[in-house]
Amino acid sequence: MYRDIYGNNRKRKMLLVMMMTLDASVVLCLPQTSGVGELLSVAGGGVGAVLEAVSQPTCSLILLTDGTTSPSTILKEESVVRGSPWGVGVFEVVVDGQDANETLVLLSHLLHQARQMKMVGNDLFLSQVRMESRCVRVVVTSHDLVFLATFAEWSLKGRLLVWATKLLVVTSLPLPQLHALLSSHWTFSMMNTILLNLEDTQPNLRVSVYTHLPYTPEGAQVVRAASWTPNRGFALTAGRLLFPPKFSNFHGATVNITALPFPPYWDVLKGPDNTTRYSGTDYYMLEAIAAALNFTIHVVPTNSWVEVAKRVEERVSFMATVFHNMLPERLERYDYSWVYEYGSLDFSMAQPGIKPQWQSLYYPLTDVVWAAVLLALLLTPVVLLLIIRVDEGGNNDVKITVGTVVQDVAGMLVGQNLPQRLPRTSSSRVLVATWLMFALIFGSAYRGNLTAFLTLPKYPPRAETLQELVSTADRITMPPYGAEFKNFFSKSDSQLFKRLGQLMHIVPSVNVGQQQAVDKKQAHLDTRRYQKLSIAKRFIGTDGTPKLYLGRESIIPGQSAWPIPHDAPFGPVLDRCLMAVIEAGLYEQWSKDLLFQAQVKSRKGQQQQHVAKKTDSDSSIRSLTTTHLQGAFLLLLLGLGIAGITFVVELLILRLLQASRGN
Ligand SMILES: *[C@@H]1O[C@H](CO)[C@@H](O)[C@H](O)[C@H]1NC(C)=O
Ligand SMILES: *[C@@H]1O[C@H](CO)[C@@H](O)[C@H](O)[C@H]1NC(C)=O
Ligand SMILES: *[C@@H]1O[C@H](CO)[C@@H](O)[C@H](O)[C@H]1NC(C)=O
Ligand SMILES: *[C@@H]1O[C@H](CO)[C@@H](O)[C@H](O)[C@H]1NC(C)=O
Repeated sequence: MYRDIYGNNRKRKMLLVMMMTLDASVVLCLPQTSGVGELLSVAGGGVGAVLEAVSQPTCSLILLTDGTTSPSTILKEESVVRGSPWGVGVFEVVVDGQDANETLVLLSHLLHQARQMKMVGNDLFLSQVRMESRCVRVVVTSHDLVFLATFAEWSLKGRLLVWATKLLVVTSLPLPQLHALLSSHWTFSMMNTILLNLEDTQPNLRVSVYTHLPYTPEGAQVVRAASWTPNRGFALTAGRLLFPPKFSNFHGATVNITALPFPPYWDVLKGPDNTTRYSGTDYYMLEAIAAALNFTIHVVPTNSWVEVAKRVEERVSFMATVFHNMLPERLERYDYSWVYEYGSLDFSMAQPGIKPQWQSLYYPLTDVVWAAVLLALLLTPVVLLLIIRVDEGGNNDVKITVGTVVQDVAGMLVGQNLPQRLPRTSSSRVLVATWLMFALIFGSAYRGNLTAFLTLPKYPPRAETLQELVSTADRITMPPYGAEFKNFFSKSDSQLFKRLGQLMHIVPSVNVGQQQAVDKKQAHLDTRRYQKLSIAKRFIGTDGTPKLYLGRESIIPGQSAWPIPHDAPFGPVLDRCLMAVIEAGLYEQWSKDLLFQAQVKSRKGQQQQHVAKKTDSDSSIRSLTTTHLQGAFLLLLLGLGIAGITFVVELLILRLLQASRGN
């Protein structure tokens, strides 16, 4: 129900009253004994003053009461409404305080509504000013510790607050309880929260404003930021801010993070004296951020990637500082920092087998050239024979046969001696000279290209895109964290991704996956940098070429970032630091350096192996193997075979002739 109660046209003021009397029959059990009466009616001036102090023209207000404040009180407090030009949503929970569970259930409903109202507020605003309002203030009033604690718990679960939302808790508590309350709940200690405490009653009415600072040079503490009295009004304590930034400097405090080795992003090295050292691009980035924000890194021990994320969800760890791909399912459990890396998922596969080497005798020339040579080889003897026959006209002493001419011409082509029995006429000499020239050029070209083709074998086409991958690979492996991806792909509408999901199998590690990819017709999926590093470390052949290649197309050209808890208040600070590192180009440089180091190390290791194996021979010389030269041998065998058959046929004919003569 929307009601414009002010009808004030100068400033559009809208009061959005949503009464949610969830259980009207239960008796209010809240202590009225303190004599403070309705909190908001007494401290309302203070709340109004604070709201006005932080007011912006586009703010809306969510007011949450525990049923001890009647709506009429709220409507009376004009000062509260004045600080929130864009409307006030009032939620009232009337609960039987004996049943904590009931309160929880009710609050969860309520906060769900409140979050939706936040959206309604935005929509209202959008339609009117075409600008988005993120300015929401939440005021919670209650005397009841249980109610406040429950609110703290459920505002987290219901995701009511983000850092930009300012929360005012209006209460009246003794100081020790107040300190305990402020420091024991994430909503109060970490979020943008202040607490207005009614500390004295009429006529010395006084409201003090407290806030919890988790990181100060003296450690975590609750400080008094301001005070309000009806006479003197609102007064800030010297050197304090009403809503201070809490995460711009950690003052050397320890910050929990979770990570597991995932080179080149995160790697664990053994330092001297059993110390653990870390390395990797993401670690360097974290180190830079820790230096900028002055905190000490504490890596919470974890056993699996699931646990890494779980600690973040539980807010034990502030962030999982290793590259995580963004998936919709993951967003339900945690948020992400600023996207700092192109989180591609790429596949590696073994180079497909080299084409049969005997064909390398044929590859150096194209089909047309071979055909032209054959034609030349047919034509030239014919022309030469013509010349010879014309020349022989008068002289029948020496008869040169057709066979001899063909044999001689073919012989010249493959570089045999100049035949002596050819005619000595000028025309035949010119022809022979031309033929020799042709043979020289053809022979050199063929010889040169043949050498190149023998040493640089021709690879058949290999899978480069997702489509080709799905049609070539028998299995596709992924490390354990891939279970989520398999799930994600299987649910896709795309047939390609569905097929990919079917082919996917989980293997214990990238080493196992890549080894299988080398041995079988399989592919391994992982991030590009990680695979590159892994190949550089372990899958380099003896001749220095990698045994695996990375497909050109990424499976999902996704975004990746560090998981942080839902609505983490330090998110904006973290994002700014991440941006600074990325924009300075440091991340790319670290990545390049690490890859280079790995390559150098791997090469050194291999050279040492080679030296150990054969100290006398130079490993950099590559000799041609029988595989390279099998073409030549095959040709020889073929020749021998044909010669053998011809020989047998000749013998048979001879026998037949002898037999016929004998008869
Ligand atoms: C609250 O509810 C949970 C399960 O719904 C139950 O296990 C728990 O005992 C209940 N607590 C109280 C105080 O009723
Ligand atoms: C970090 O915080 C500690 C503790 O407050 C302080 O001693 C140190 O000087 C700070 N370092 C920097 C670089 O600000
Ligand atoms: C290192 O740790 C191992 C096992 O934890 C222990 O046996 C060894 O004594 C330690 N060495 C030093 C120098 O602390
Ligand atoms: C940090 O982690 C330790 C356990 O390793 C835990 O005891 C501590 O409470 C954590 N700190 C925070 C602020 O959650």
